[in-house]
Amino acid sequence: MCGIVGGIAQRDITPILLEGLKRLEYRGYDSAGMAVVRTGELQRERALGKVAELEAALTRRRLNGRLGIAHTRWATHGKPSLANAHPHLSSASVAVVHNGIIENFEPLKARLEGQGYRFHSDTDTEVIAHLFDSHYREQHEPRHAQEARDTLLAAFRATLGELHGAYALGLIHRDHPEHLLCARMGSPLVIGVGSGEHFIGSDPLALLQVTDRFIYLEEGDHALMTSHDIVIFDGEQVVEEISSDMPQSPDAGTEQLGAGRRALGARPIIRYEHGSQAANKGDYRHFMLKEIHEQPEVLRDTLADKLTPEGTLLTAVLGPEAAELLPQVRQVQLVACGTSYHAGLVARYWLEALAGVPCSVEVASEFRYRHVAVQPGTLFVTLSQSGETADTLAALRFAKSAGYLATLAICNVPGSSLVRESQLRLMTHAGPEIGVASTKAFTTQLAVLAWLALVLGRQQGRLDDADLAEQVAALQALPEQLRQVLELEPAIAELANGFAEKRHTLFLGRGAHYPVAMEGALKLKEISYIHAEAYAAGELKHGPLALVDDAMPVVTVAPSDTLLEKLKSNLQEVRARGGRLINFVCERAGLVDEEGVRNFPLPKVPELTAPILYSVPLQLLSYHVALVKGTDVDKPRNLAKSVTVE
Ligand code: F6R
Repeated sequence: MCGIVGGIAQRDITPILLEGLKRLEYRGYDSAGMAVVRTGELQRERALGKVAELEAALTRRRLNGRLGIAHTRWATHGKPSLANAHPHLSSASVAVVHNGIIENFEPLKARLEGQGYRFHSDTDTEVIAHLFDSHYREQHEPRHAQEARDTLLAAFRATLGELHGAYALGLIHRDHPEHLLCARMGSPLVIGVGSGEHFIGSDPLALLQVTDRFIYLEEGDHALMTSHDIVIFDGEQVVEEISSDMPQSPDAGTEQLGAGRRALGARPIIRYEHGSQAANKGDYRHFMLKEIHEQPEVLRDTLADKLTPEGTLLTAVLGPEAAELLPQVRQVQLVACGTSYHAGLVARYWLEALAGVPCSVEVASEFRYRHVAVQPGTLFVTLSQSGETADTLAALRFAKSAGYLATLAICNVPGSSLVRESQLRLMTHAGPEIGVASTKAFTTQLAVLAWLALVLGRQQGRLDDADLAEQVAALQALPEQLRQVLELEPAIAELANGFAEKRHTLFLGRGAHYPVAMEGALKLKEISYIHAEAYAAGELKHGPLALVDDAMPVVTVAPSDTLLEKLKSNLQEVRARGGRLINFVCERAGLVDEEGVRNFPLPKVPELTAPILYSVPLQLLSYHVALVKGTDVDKPRNLAKSVTVE
């Protein structure tokens, strides 16, 4: 999805903007651009395709300035083209970058055209630039610095007041080389706090090369920044005012302001906890591979604040309201998209089996438009890596007035909209996930959901001390077992050589491993572009068996659980039709390699943790198939990391 980076500094801002755009590349985009202000001139450069194209253009025509904004665009209104790339300009004096969608851009455009503005793109964003310009011209000529600031703010507010839809915005004006304006409504935007320089970004990762201190803007906020000061407004009200010469508190995540500064505290500065190295590939060839290999460690981190080494469930992490709300839970509604939805499907098996709590799971894009019948005592749970997925957020906002007991977000990004807007929260500590195909975010979500099932199981009186101790031990053993599973990588890589030629694949599983198979199929589709479908293995003979022949690989997830014998019968059905089986199977399942059957043995693990463990070889399989095919593993075609538009 689109990415924004901007800044006002006392040095040339262009290398910072360019590096920021490179760090945003993982989100998916089709063009990039940059605009800077320099001594009464607004300069812009744009390029279709990769940020490297923009970089090449900038070596031919160097931009230089202390104030600038930049953007990676993922086409919504108007096809990918140079003309549609951001920043968009008005009257050679205003430049705007925008994420989101302006729903009323057509009437605004018609009005502005009537006023004489000429449009050069098909985007909704260009409307914002001209609208600002028209409001700016309505203001009287500023006579001194304070008036100049008031003029900018008045024009900006008048512009924002006319926009319907979702936006994160950055705006600069040729005649105001000291001022950067920004706003957030429905699309994330952070302010990066520096020393004598300040920045904006749609994602903190874009700015980690210059700061690790961030202010997460709230819905409806706008801000005016100079290299020294940041003033954040909610309407006309100042909600935060910050100067960059404030002292840094050594240990607190949330910093205090220096003496004599306004410290309204409404928009705290949060220190980014993962460090700038988290967004580097290190020695790995791709982020996806790095993230697959990080899973033992991040699973341990994710459980660390939820479970003591002695096995006590630390429910306080859910938030202060949890103690009162948890005993009232009678049902659970899980809502998410994509991979996060698959995590929810696995969790349904756990929540019903361990806690006896009825559970429904639905994709957010469907849920948000449905007339739901809400049962009393239903906990509404959203699952999201980014916490900014438009459909999931919309579902949460709808649920808040639909009569649910409470809302809980399970998320990987602490300052995200989903976390801030939910009553209860559980963080996955997966660290930044850069590869578009989700891996460690999925398995850490599963670990948190397994933990939640234990918490509710205890609450409902379904788990005695011995049961709980057994399940907790299973969770605690996971990091080490994952390390063992990762050792399968060379064998999986070898298999991938023959697999890359295939055009279709079936994935099979039963019980909680049916959604694991769905996730395996999604991974393969996403990064290798091989058509893959997942079926509950018992469904084979109701249709899909017709597809099976010796050209069709069938990947099965076969842990040693109560359904193993049934699954083995399903595998016989495949073999009888000449299908080629690739089984990820419990080492004790007694399956043997033969012509057309390849088994990858995994350790015998308890039913609770098997779905987490069995997901990992499927991630490795899709990664190595994509590698053989030579696709862009971390940035697969047509996809974006964080889907912030509907
Ligand atoms: C697939 C993938 C997507 C996301 C989906 C939801 O590998 O990553 O399917 O899971 O777009 O994103 P989040 O979890 O950020 O809400």
